[in-house]
Amino acid sequence: ERVSRRRFLTYSLASVGGFLASGILFPMVRMAVDPVLKHGEEGEFVKVGTVDEFNDVPKEVPFTKPVKDGWYETEEKLTAWIMKDENGDILALSPICTHLGCTVNWEGGGNENRFFCPCHFGLYYKNGLNVPNTPPPEPLQKYEVKIEGNDVYLGPLQPNPVTE
Ligand code: FES
Repeated sequence: ERVSRRRFLTYSLASVGGFLASGILFPMVRMAVDPVLKHGEEGEFVKVGTVDEFNDVPKEVPFTKPVKDGWYETEEKLTAWIMKDENGDILALSPICTHLGCTVNWEGGGNENRFFCPCHFGLYYKNGLNVPNTPPPEPLQKYEVKIEGNDVYLGPLQPNPVTE
C-alpha cells in the first residue's frame, strides 16, 4: 500500500516536471526557430472594410491588430481616419497628434475641413499635413494601405510626406 502510493507520487511528479519542461522548452525552441515571431509581426495587414464604405469625408474606424511576442499573443487597439483622396485612392491617417500624442478629431472644436487636436489646439489639413503656426511639428502618420478585390487592409504606420 505504502509502496504503491509512493510510486504514484513519483509518477505524478515526473509528469508535472515533464509538463513544466515542455512549457518552457517549446517556446524557447519556437523562438529560436522562428525569429520573426520573437520580434512581433510588424508587417501584418488587417481588414478594415470595403472600398465603397468610404468617401471623401474621413471616417473613424477602430480596429484590432494581433501582436505576437514569442509565444505571447495579444492584440493592439488602433484607430484610423479613412477617406478617399482627390484621386479616389484610400488614405488612412493615424489619429495620434504629432505634437504630444493626443487624439485628433475630424472637424473637432468647430474647425471645418480640419483635423483638430484639443490638447494644444493643433490643426491638420484633410490630407494630414499640419497647419503652419499650430503646435504639431509634422503631418499625421498614415497607414500602409492594401486593396484586395473590394477589401481595404491596413498595414504598418509610415511617415506621411505630404506638402501643401
Ligand atoms: Fe496635439 Fe499638442 S498634443 S496639439
